[in-house]
Amino acid sequence: MIIAQITDLHVRPRGRLAYDRVDTNAMLKATVAALMKSERRPDVVLATGDLTDCGLLEEYEVLRELLAPLPMAVYLVPGNHDRRENLRAIFYADGYLPAEGEFLHYVVDDQPVRLIGVDTVVPGEGFGLLCQRRLNWLAEQLAREPGEPTVIFMHHPPFLTGLTDMDRINCRGGDSMADIVARFPNVERVLCGHHHRPIQARWAGTLASVAPSTAHQVVLDLAPDNSPAMYNLEPPAYQLHVWSPYTGLISHTAYVDDYAGPYPFVLDPDYPGYQPADAPREAAE
Ligand SMILES: [Fe+2]
Ligand SMILES: [Fe+2]
Repeated sequence: MIIAQITDLHVRPRGRLAYDRVDTNAMLKATVAALMKSERRPDVVLATGDLTDCGLLEEYEVLRELLAPLPMAVYLVPGNHDRRENLRAIFYADGYLPAEGEFLHYVVDDQPVRLIGVDTVVPGEGFGLLCQRRLNWLAEQLAREPGEPTVIFMHHPPFLTGLTDMDRINCRGGDSMADIVARFPNVERVLCGHHHRPIQARWAGTLASVAPSTAHQVVLDLAPDNSPAMYNLEPPAYQLHVWSPYTGLISHTAYVDDYAGPYPFVLDPDYPGYQPADAPREAAE
């Protein structure tokens, strides 16, 4: 099973650029095309928040249109740039978002890997939060299937990254979440967005990560105080998390744009392991 993770799409109304500079809609279109062109397509796509830039109805309509070519299920969770009511209005028909209740969290359990979408949004704030109600919900969902390989996906990372200005707006309540997750060794990953960079951490007995954005990236600046965080146009990317019962979950970062290549590895005769193509091969030991 392949789980694609796209994040921080920041879709805008038609013809509008994010921050007056970034053509996030065209970049998402290119990402969707990249997902479609791979020989082994993902089985599901997770989009981990900041789906739109301002949470406008029109932005969700554009998002729906841009995601439409994907034939596989796409599961969305909101980020700080989203508005739950507008997201629900446009995507409720897909059948996985809860019909009522404050939080847009849910479980997908018809796949080889159980997927738990967590809503970390605090309306009007940049930071995220796992309040007691959300923590209780998560603990309850995990307790239901403690033997199933499970991926949790959410917008705000619950761990510190060293990108200090972004860390100020990470997910509060992360320590309490860690206490819960640590009780479930079947949690293969905690997949996040928000920081617009590829980041990995060992956290709560599992691996937690942030995926790069399909649009702009956050500048890698590890200064003790890097505020204000800035963005740049490093290559847009997404992640492919490949599951098999033999290997567990293996995560790859894939770039959206095309680059030169592919080229065959033609070895230089000076290479220590060089063997002419017609040389008899020793049997592998
Ligand atoms: Fe974002
Ligand atoms: Fe965000």
